[in-house]
Amino acid sequence: MARKGRASLGIGMIGTKFMGRAHSVGWAGAGKFFDLALRLDRACVAGRDAAETHEFARRWEWQRSTADWRSLIASAEVDLVDICTPNHCHAEMAIAALAAGKCVACEKPLAGTLSDARRMAKAAKAGARRGLKTFVWFNYRRCPAVALAHLWAKSGRLGKIRHVRATYLQDWGGPSTPLLWRFQADQAGSGAHGDLNAHIVDMARFITGCEVTEVTGAIAETFVKRRTVVSSTGGAISGSKARKSKRGAAATGASTVDDCVLFLARMEQGIVASFEATRLATGNKNRNTIEINGDRGSIKFDFERMNELEWWDDSLPQEQRGWSRVMCTEAVHPYAHAYWPSAHLIGYEHTFVSQCADMARALSGASPEVPLCDFEDALRTQAVLDAALRSARLKRAVEVPLE
Ligand SMILES: NC(=O)c1ccc[n+]([C@@H]2O[C@H](COP(=O)([O-])OP(=O)(O)OC[C@H]3O[C@@H](n4cnc5c(N)ncnc54)[C@H](O)[C@@H]3O)[C@@H](O)[C@H]2O)c1
Repeated sequence: MARKGRASLGIGMIGTKFMGRAHSVGWAGAGKFFDLALRLDRACVAGRDAAETHEFARRWEWQRSTADWRSLIASAEVDLVDICTPNHCHAEMAIAALAAGKCVACEKPLAGTLSDARRMAKAAKAGARRGLKTFVWFNYRRCPAVALAHLWAKSGRLGKIRHVRATYLQDWGGPSTPLLWRFQADQAGSGAHGDLNAHIVDMARFITGCEVTEVTGAIAETFVKRRTVVSSTGGAISGSKARKSKRGAAATGASTVDDCVLFLARMEQGIVASFEATRLATGNKNRNTIEINGDRGSIKFDFERMNELEWWDDSLPQEQRGWSRVMCTEAVHPYAHAYWPSAHLIGYEHTFVSQCADMARALSGASPEVPLCDFEDALRTQAVLDAALRSARLKRAVEVPLE
């Protein structure tokens, strides 16, 4: 990792679309906003199309590009492999990177399936014995408001937590959205569930510090059974820039994933919880919400107002009690100190900048501002997701095994 001059970390990123762009912003910004011991070098980016990837590298300032992700992993200048590809690619790429002696930062969910996730966690454990670290991009942990909720829950400010209520609702996945990889089980594993419930299960575990022990009931539904086949996604999440298949505009294929999964769960310390995810909740754009109710106070977070944390302090005299809206943009708030003066808002991309900074800190032996997720941690979330799908299929409660 330490090469000539200041110690540096060579990043090799695989995937150049939605997350490829978000991570490029993260790697470029982390060393500018945060004082880091490591210089972050955007050494190489890999995509499937050589010309497109070359253009991406030029635009987002990566030193080199390749159409062969295996050669990226083998490159001497790459210390950490950043995986921004569809879920079915994660296991093969992460395991190959760890075998080549590289640290790995993998997008969420850890994998499309629990068995892939287990193989990844096993490889990460073997890698850890050689000093390799793994990370998973549960980036919402790094919203200042979510990090603050984590710190308050940990310090006992909410008291004994009784109840978690989490939803992640989007509306881009209607019938006009084509058959992207996100609607194909062999590539995505699941639909809204792995895409969105993964985030809120991670947030619930992260804020409360408690594990989900049982899924007591779940419903999974696919509203749109067939979607238009496309030859290229065009990179937009809704497929709005997709190119039609040569089979003709009318060609359709089966959607093999859920459009909506709701489930109830039990967590450690007697907490009860509900989770809901869908990409067909008309009018809900990116409603990643979590409410946590404790016996001394409660919090509410909504990503559509990501700079704010709503807070009820039950220890106040009764005549003063009421919901307050904390703007998490002060220097005392997690991450906010690195960006702008008081009350100058941050956005989605800052969660990636902050995660890159925390990963660099962890790799230089310093502590992240709030805990990062590694493969072992993400395996717990994957086990919850798997239990929810089994519960929906079996129409009964399913325990979540402690891996
Ligand atoms: N953390 C978040 O908020 C967040 C948001 C969106 C997506 N994601 C996750 O990020 C990952 C990527 O999602 P995305 O939205 O960027 O998808 P995308 O479709 O926009 O981009 C996928 C990229 O992977 C490349 N790719 C696909 N198959 C490949 C292969 N076999 N070899 C090499 N490259 C390949 C594609 O060419 C493309 O560049 C997924 O795991 C997804 O769940 C996370």
